[in-house]
Amino acid sequence: MRRPMVAGNWKMNGTRASVAELIESLRLQQLPAAVEIAVFPSCVYISQVLDGVNGIEIAVGAQDGATQAGFGALTGEVSPAQLADVGCKWVLVGHSERRLLLGESDEVVSRKFSAAQASGLKPVLCLGETLEERRAGKTLEVVERQLARVLDDQGIAAFESAVIAYEPVWAIGSGLTATPQQAQEVHAAIREQLSRRDRRVAEGVRLLYGGSVKAENAAELFSMADIDGGLIGGASLKADEFGAICRAAGN
Ligand code: PGA
Repeated sequence: MRRPMVAGNWKMNGTRASVAELIESLRLQQLPAAVEIAVFPSCVYISQVLDGVNGIEIAVGAQDGATQAGFGALTGEVSPAQLADVGCKWVLVGHSERRLLLGESDEVVSRKFSAAQASGLKPVLCLGETLEERRAGKTLEVVERQLARVLDDQGIAAFESAVIAYEPVWAIGSGLTATPQQAQEVHAAIREQLSRRDRRVAEGVRLLYGGSVKAENAAELFSMADIDGGLIGGASLKADEFGAICRAAGN
């Protein structure tokens, strides 16, 4: 049995004041113990959030980490070792906003994945096709290529302590959610690709769906066989909405 997971990607949002408010409201939510919950604030607020969620079952992760595990001369980057040092458990790797707007290649994503694990963090590897690629019938090919790069470099065993998030780019922040069937098709293909390397590992990996998940559509998405939870952007900034999504994952 895979433990469902709901992750809130706060992206480049928040101020000290609004983060404090959001934490306060999250503390009032009824959160299901059966669901693993994590939030990914902007890097500068990670310590504030870690203090704020003290005593409740919410883990904290970073939205990105450097390509190298140690310390050194890399101005502006944050080492995964530093993220682990302050108390992060998770890190997003290869979010499409970074791949597309900041030019992160499959190779860079794979190095970030590796550096995260070398520092004791669990990566959430994000995969997904653009609208153009979907229209061209290339969805499975694109997602397979993105995953293959990390699988080839890091090996299947690396996925024993990683999570994969499928996030179709056209569904992110657009209000257009993939249908449960569209998402399930890709999730099943991802699991099948992992399974070709190791069936047992493939069965254990949690596959999250992301892209305009809301309280209103979460339950249906999470009812699909290979959807083990969600990576939530916009809706994770509203505690009530996020709490409801977490509860949907627990049912
Ligand atoms: P969204 O973002 O829920 O706002 O669509 C999801 C994500 O980018 O992780």
